[in-house]
Amino acid sequence: MPHHGAAFTLICARCNLPLAPLIVPPYSPLLMTREPSPSRPSETDAPAFQLPEFGLKHLLGIEGLTPREIDHLLDRAETMVAISRAVEKKRHTLSGRTLINLFFENSTRTQSSFEIAGKRLGMDVVNMAVAQSSVKKGETLLDTALTLNAMQPDLLVVRHSAAGAAALLAQQVDCSVINAGDGAHEHPTQALLDALTIRRQFGRIEGLTVAICGDIAHSRVARSNIHLLNAMGARVRVIAPSTLLPSGIEHLGVEAFRSMEKGLPGCDVVMMLRLQVERMEGAFVPSLREYYRFYGLNAKRMKLAKKDAIVMHPAPMNRGVEIASSIADGVQSVIFEQVEMGVAVRMAVMEALQEGAGA
Ligand code: NCD
Repeated sequence: MPHHGAAFTLICARCNLPLAPLIVPPYSPLLMTREPSPSRPSETDAPAFQLPEFGLKHLLGIEGLTPREIDHLLDRAETMVAISRAVEKKRHTLSGRTLINLFFENSTRTQSSFEIAGKRLGMDVVNMAVAQSSVKKGETLLDTALTLNAMQPDLLVVRHSAAGAAALLAQQVDCSVINAGDGAHEHPTQALLDALTIRRQFGRIEGLTVAICGDIAHSRVARSNIHLLNAMGARVRVIAPSTLLPSGIEHLGVEAFRSMEKGLPGCDVVMMLRLQVERMEGAFVPSLREYYRFYGLNAKRMKLAKKDAIVMHPAPMNRGVEIASSIADGVQSVIFEQVEMGVAVRMAVMEALQEGAGA
């Protein structure tokens, strides 16, 4: 096991840091996750879809994944959709293995999604209620990780309010680690499930115009989606008031708009974000009412996007703040498909990482 005292600076998710410095090389999923794999073919000579050769042990972020790796996970997830829709949902590819859900931030839906995914693959799943446990008694993140590591899990799913927390754990434990959201940094399985939903709607991701709207500054969903959509050849726009738009966001390869009226025309996908009130210190918006007035997605604004555009939201939604109920429940909404794809994508990621870990 790696050395305990590795110097590692955590970035507090509550700090309103600009985007670019937040995603710094020490957290690069490429550095942290790629296992040396002598049998791994080069990107050019490998056939398009080769399941056994996914060489990653951890999934800490989308940044650094290749389009081939993303496609691999999406293709694998397609097979999981069929399994999840069958009456008999159990697949036994990971039976006998142990998954620990380690959620330092409260989450019902994401934790359940990982739990269902693990169980459908035959794993024993343990949900650690860390918020109510020894952490409250002063135990550090690393001590918690090392204690769990001694219980020999095969997969750790981690959600934490600090950017870089999942990467730090991955350095300290022997098993695979999946980042289920680290502060305002990344939420890779959310971006993958969004991509799968988009691909199933349009048959492709390349060439589509996607507008990510709302609280970009505090959103790990936005960051992971920007990386993924850019890697897969989509055109990405972000729409937000200046206070919620990190300076230098254009460097991530997006076009920034400060008004819905300017940013929505021509979009295939309108991805709404929750206003992350719990991550805000100070006033980023004058009032929720005013935010809805200028940035809420209503029927009139939705008409500006393409006729067959879809509406997405990672949930939980603030109805009447970032989105009107009529749009959230309307025919263009794919919000429940996203939830379904979440289980499939997490199954795919778990299976792929277990192969990548050589387990
Ligand atoms: C997202 C998250 O936690 O980052 N939600 C989720 O994974 N279900 C988005 C959000 O909280 O707004």
